[in-house]
Amino acid sequence: MVLSDGESIKGVIITGGSGFIGSHMTTALRSWGVPVAIVDRNSPPLVDVNLFVRGAIEDESTWVRLNNELDFKVDTLFHLAARTSVLESIKDPADVFESNLVGFHNALEYCRRSGIDRVGFASTNAAVGNGTDGIITEEAPLLPLTPYGATKAAGEMLASAYGASYGIDVASVRLTNVYGPGMWRKDSIVPRLFRHAVGLSDFAIYGDGQQFRDFVYVKDVVDAFITLAGVRFSGPVSFGSGSSVTVNELVKLVGETTGIAIKPRRVPPKAGEMAGVEISLKLASSIGLRNEVELIDGLRMAWDNFQEEHGQAVG
Ligand SMILES: NC(=O)c1ccc[n+]([C@@H]2O[C@H](COP(=O)([O-])OP(=O)(O)OC[C@H]3O[C@@H](n4cnc5c(N)ncnc54)[C@H](O)[C@@H]3O)[C@@H](O)[C@H]2O)c1
Repeated sequence: MVLSDGESIKGVIITGGSGFIGSHMTTALRSWGVPVAIVDRNSPPLVDVNLFVRGAIEDESTWVRLNNELDFKVDTLFHLAARTSVLESIKDPADVFESNLVGFHNALEYCRRSGIDRVGFASTNAAVGNGTDGIITEEAPLLPLTPYGATKAAGEMLASAYGASYGIDVASVRLTNVYGPGMWRKDSIVPRLFRHAVGLSDFAIYGDGQQFRDFVYVKDVVDAFITLAGVRFSGPVSFGSGSSVTVNELVKLVGETTGIAIKPRRVPPKAGEMAGVEISLKLASSIGLRNEVELIDGLRMAWDNFQEEHGQAVG
């Protein structure tokens, strides 16, 4: 695949490639003919992939197996594998540390030893935590509120060191809430609302629902990683839609999308929840990252897919 600056991606390793973002990324890269190897502790995704290595990234033997089995040239690694539940990370910080930080260190070590010098790291705005009162920029201090956010902030520090010491360009993409097709089992707010709409589960709003969040469509995220690899960006960059909505507004939008009135329960606020997330896209835009999908359109596509997948699961 030829990228915007004329460089080409020869081959890619995707850690966490069986997951939500990873399977979209794999599909996109394979559609351009780029060979992809996935490392994941879950089963392979139901998409075309050249090599699948099943194993935990914190386990060094996984990387040895990858090295033994890889039979094409790789110049880029997208690191998506992580324990992703913020609230679970509060319950089990040791496990999130192993997966997210030891695992990422192993990935960087693999790159160092194999001469892979281009990495996209899925970080999060939760690395910033309450480090800023207003719009979140890349200059905000890192003051994460949870073990999950802390492992991502620490991952960014490792990325900085591997850049300075070994010349590996790591783009740390601080993602907001990613949504889209293929996520109906996930524990994030959009699929929880969809599940509630079809009567599969309860839905509760923590606090007054005025906490605001940024929702970004998965295809825009995949494109962002690929653009960043193309321009060899290194360092942190925030990426999302750049426009936030409150949880109450999201509930209303999902009601309009599904045509089903959503009646959430109200429960007290939870520890570790950020009051508001509003990010600046100034840096992202200057690098050429784009948002093409509006929330209302993205919700429609996600809902259509949800109905299809949910129908297959119950049918
Ligand atoms: N989805 C979002 O809203 C969002 C927001 C901010 C950041 N991110 C980050 O983006 C990345 C991908 O997110 P996603 O939504 O696709 O998550 P996901 O949970 O759907 O996928 C993560 C994948 O990583 C694998 N994995 C987890 N721990 C592993 C381990 N120790 N060893 C091997 N494989 C492991 C899982 O099996 C899974 O297939 C994560 O790093 C996440 O922290 C996601």
